[in-house]
Amino acid sequence: MRIGMLTSGGDCQALNAAMRGVVKGLSHNLDDLEIFGFYNGYRGLIYGDYRKLTNQDFSGILNVGGTILGSSRVPFKTIQVPDENGLNKIEAMKQNYYDLNLDCLVILGGNGTQKTANLLRQEGLNIIHLPKTIDNDIYGTDMTFGFYSAVEIASQSMDCIHTTAASHNRVFVVEIMGHKVGWLTLYSGLASGADIILLPEIPYDDKKILEAIQKRKQSGKDFSIIAVAEGAISKQEALLSKKDLKQQRKKEKAPSISYKIANMIMENSEFDARVTIPGHVQRGGAPCPYDRILATRLGAAAAQCILDKDYGNMIGIINNKIERIPLEKVAGKLKYVDPESDIVKEAKCIGISFGD
Ligand code: F6P
Repeated sequence: MRIGMLTSGGDCQALNAAMRGVVKGLSHNLDDLEIFGFYNGYRGLIYGDYRKLTNQDFSGILNVGGTILGSSRVPFKTIQVPDENGLNKIEAMKQNYYDLNLDCLVILGGNGTQKTANLLRQEGLNIIHLPKTIDNDIYGTDMTFGFYSAVEIASQSMDCIHTTAASHNRVFVVEIMGHKVGWLTLYSGLASGADIILLPEIPYDDKKILEAIQKRKQSGKDFSIIAVAEGAISKQEALLSKKDLKQQRKKEKAPSISYKIANMIMENSEFDARVTIPGHVQRGGAPCPYDRILATRLGAAAAQCILDKDYGNMIGIINNKIERIPLEKVAGKLKYVDPESDIVKEAKCIGISFGD
């Protein structure tokens, strides 16, 4: 059996653990396994940049961050556009797959990656998708690997900010990754006792943020922690088109949402505000045990799926059970935080403001 493998999109923790799970699951059950690793995501598949790998390549990587195959972003909308030399990328990917006589291609990636994976499936390739991302926004699976490792890092950042915020009686705005969804901000905000949590799914009102900070002051707490997702928007901004929002943000000249909120607080209150952006630190380093376990389980289940020749699936986890989910049912959809969900209600119940 000949298997291709690639990791595409923004990296995250436990990519190596997942690939190790697939390879161990297959090699444990097959004598004739051949593995081809494509470098830097779809780029490797398009341009035939690959290497034959052995079991040895997947040894000792369970707890290693990043990806031994490298990654890149090749957005779905550009995949259908020929490259600068007129190369048809989809045909090139198919050709490399057929030239290597692959039985299946295992693709580890997030939403964009999944859309291309589904396209390749429609084009007739045997595809298995493993859902990775620190954003946990992949539809059809309760959890993605990478998420809890990032939650841990973001929470630790906020824990550190907490002590200095308290010493100086300051408001700290901590910007957490997540342009479209707020899972990481919600979970790390809850884990580290943020006072205000701002998510793309729940547009905020400046006044409510100011009220929440003042309320804390009145109760004797002169500092506040605001966890804000990269993609958080105000109620006024929610009325704008994507294009108009982009233009308005450009005019405001704040480098990012956290600066916009910190500036607003300083202009409208007596509070001193500071910004902290953990950034790509959230995607780096060793996976936490939960992610290692999830990635290993998904990898093993992917191997079983390949052994069963049951292609065209994402391997996800639903109610702690590993499931095969047809790609056609999930590709192109995002999993958002529901503003009416229990977790948001529970957070509100203990006094956390969502600025709404
Ligand atoms: O998709 C994962 C993610 O880390 C998002 O949370 C973040 O918005 C984005 O990638 C950052 O992308 P890049 O690494 O291309 O700057």
